[in-house]
Amino acid sequence: MTSPLPTTLPHAFREAIAKRLPDARFGEPLAEHTTFKIGGPADVYAELRTEAEMADAVRIADEYGVPLTVVGYGSNLLVLDSGVRGLVLRLKGDFERLGTGSGTLLEAGAGVRLPKLIAWAGERGLGGSENLVGVPGTLGGSLVMNAGTREGEVGDIVREVRVLDRKTLRVVVLSPRELKFSYRASALDDRLVVGALLELKAGRRDDIITRIREFQQKRLATQPVHTHNVGSTFKNPPGQFVGRLIERAGLKGLRVGDARVSPVHANFIENMGSAKACDVLGIVTAVREKIRSEFGVELELEMRIVGEA
Ligand code: EPU
Repeated sequence: MTSPLPTTLPHAFREAIAKRLPDARFGEPLAEHTTFKIGGPADVYAELRTEAEMADAVRIADEYGVPLTVVGYGSNLLVLDSGVRGLVLRLKGDFERLGTGSGTLLEAGAGVRLPKLIAWAGERGLGGSENLVGVPGTLGGSLVMNAGTREGEVGDIVREVRVLDRKTLRVVVLSPRELKFSYRASALDDRLVVGALLELKAGRRDDIITRIREFQQKRLATQPVHTHNVGSTFKNPPGQFVGRLIERAGLKGLRVGDARVSPVHANFIENMGSAKACDVLGIVTAVREKIRSEFGVELELEMRIVGEA
């Protein structure tokens, strides 16, 4: 979530943050907090551990008119080269909690990473989340953009989502109807997700673990899992596969600076070592133009962009 940019950080804001969040870091390079390993610094970067810390961070940011951006695991994020103004937040501590509710319900904090959630549920004989194997991000980030695979989306298993109301600083509960999940979108943009209640299915532990391994093998065979990337660059256009279009246009391996279109999966861009955000944007522009001229298709970004160019 991003608000309008202030020119400088008020001194009193810095003091209030340093007092309430003593571990906050000023000028923290965000490249270290994204799987792309790309991006300039955050004015302030803080890891929140409790709902009370989240409420205080929001209150202080709003009091001084400082923009606020919540990042998850940074696995779907291109941070621009000049970095992100204002306060950048990551959720840890209490936000990484997992627990079982009644029956097949699972309660999880917004900071829990999906691979951990899926494995944790599987060990307890709770299935239904394993088709999200391969999504590396946090539950919160996954909910905001309704992350998923061809086998299913996170929105499919949501019973309710808890968010912090920015005005009252209280937690409110939203139902799936209010969340409006659709392909890679939800009504959670600009909301501060605290956690969610997921509805899973009872199953045999061994069957679930086997399915998790099968999905992992499939990812390994079809995606450049061990490179620095942020997953899909573009959304699939209705009825088409963007990876197939980019391959047919002959763009696999296209290189700009130290970024390239993955030779393994054409909808992935890889940082070969020292790529800048502007290199990635160069590829995005070149691919969009070629796909428009060759197939008459407009591509929409799937990865999120934050910060200043
Ligand atoms: N294909 C090509 N060339 C390529 C890549 C793919 O011809 O370079 C073809 C494949 O052969 C296949 C079709 O395109 O016939 C679809 O490919 P794939 O099965 O890899 O699925 P996808 O539609 O490209 C989607 C999600 C992925 C998810 C996979 C697997 C989107 C934008 N992407 O990819 O999600 O992992 O399904 O379920 O919907 C992500 O969101 O970051 C992500 C990786």
